[in-house]
Amino acid sequence: MALLLFLFVLLCFAAAAAESSRSPATSLFVLGDSTVSCSASILPLNLTAPSLPAGPCLFPSARRLLPDHLAAKMGLSPPPLISTLNGTAAAAARGVNFGGQYGDRGMFRMGAVGQQLRLAAETLQLLQLEAGTPQDASAAAAGAVFVLSFGTDAYARLLARGPAEADAAAPKHGRRGLGRLLADRIARAVSELYEADVRRVAVMGVAPLGCAPRVMWEGPRGLGGGRGCVEEANELIEGYNARLAARLDDLRPQLPGAAVVFCDVYKGMMEILSNPRRYGLEETREACCGLGPFKATVGCLSKEMACGAPERHLWWDLYSPTEAVDALVANWSWGSLSSSPPPDSASASGVTMMSICSPMSLQQLAYG
Ligand SMILES: *[C@@H]1O[C@H](CO)[C@@H](O)[C@H](O)[C@H]1NC(C)=O
Ligand SMILES: *[C@@H]1O[C@H](CO)[C@@H](O)[C@H](O)[C@H]1NC(C)=O
Ligand SMILES: *[C@@H]1O[C@H](CO)[C@@H](O)[C@H](O)[C@H]1NC(C)=O
Repeated sequence: MALLLFLFVLLCFAAAAAESSRSPATSLFVLGDSTVSCSASILPLNLTAPSLPAGPCLFPSARRLLPDHLAAKMGLSPPPLISTLNGTAAAAARGVNFGGQYGDRGMFRMGAVGQQLRLAAETLQLLQLEAGTPQDASAAAAGAVFVLSFGTDAYARLLARGPAEADAAAPKHGRRGLGRLLADRIARAVSELYEADVRRVAVMGVAPLGCAPRVMWEGPRGLGGGRGCVEEANELIEGYNARLAARLDDLRPQLPGAAVVFCDVYKGMMEILSNPRRYGLEETREACCGLGPFKATVGCLSKEMACGAPERHLWWDLYSPTEAVDALVANWSWGSLSSSPPPDSASASGVTMMSICSPMSLQQLAYG
């Protein structure tokens, strides 16, 4: 018993030493789906519905996504897409965006996680090989912040089909099983990154897609005009987020010296949905870019289809939030309690500073 206690204390010290010896992050690596990359296409190309597939941003310059916002907060340029790199360590040293663009149009694209992980591991190896000394090599991995943002495309695809069809398309796990499968895969990805010496990982949850224009358009027609969001869809996603957070909680004790953060995007989006005017939004149901009811029958295909004031909309297109909303969610992910204004000044300015990541903010993850 005494020995156990001693070992425990020793472990705590080791963990504390590892924590406190972390120096500021020097690079940002991003893995994910259409939430992190304009090159990802969210809908299967072959839906029979009269909708056309569209990536979340046809004109990338018009919208900054989560990695852009986070990179800015870390004082870095947006991580370049892997496809634009030239294979040298120099090009990848400040980070890489591995997101999107992995061909297979299978329903859940579970393979995307593994594919991106392999590329990330190879990139880290390259950085470590090219580092001058072994110290430099371990610093390369230790200075990296990894952000994982999967699940949105998988749920968008799932929700784009009716329940029966979705279950038929996923015979092994059904629509409820997807959450378990995906959460397990992400947790395994975090372990694999740890094996590759990565010590700072942030995992983003999935937004309330039950409120997304496409799901609203498909969902509430039978529900008398559809006030509110499609609860069944949101419940599925909440189940996934909870499962994911729990898996990460289980994982932390097994990864000494690592910081593994879960960011509750769902909670942030719900705050905005509940108090849109507080954040300068006027339209929380209809997309900015698209055609038809909720602007969700046809997705965003051209600049001409976009609304005049995207900053007043919560949703950009079928399933993606606008840049303004991404910026808020990024701020809430970044903000730590210590740097948030006192409650009085927050309410005075009409802006709530909330913290959606635990057990620490991304700022603490990057600088802690
Ligand atoms: C879409 O599906 C139809 C029939 O299922 C098939 O004939 C067609 O080639 C598919 N199109 C694409 C782009 O995959
Ligand atoms: C690769 O890209 C990096 C960063 O953009 C640049 O510094 C380097 O010269 C390039 N190397 C080659 C061989 O093109
Ligand atoms: C996010 O935070 C930055 C810096 O604190 C601030 O300038 C910006 O206005 C915030 N953006 C939003 C959308 O709240």
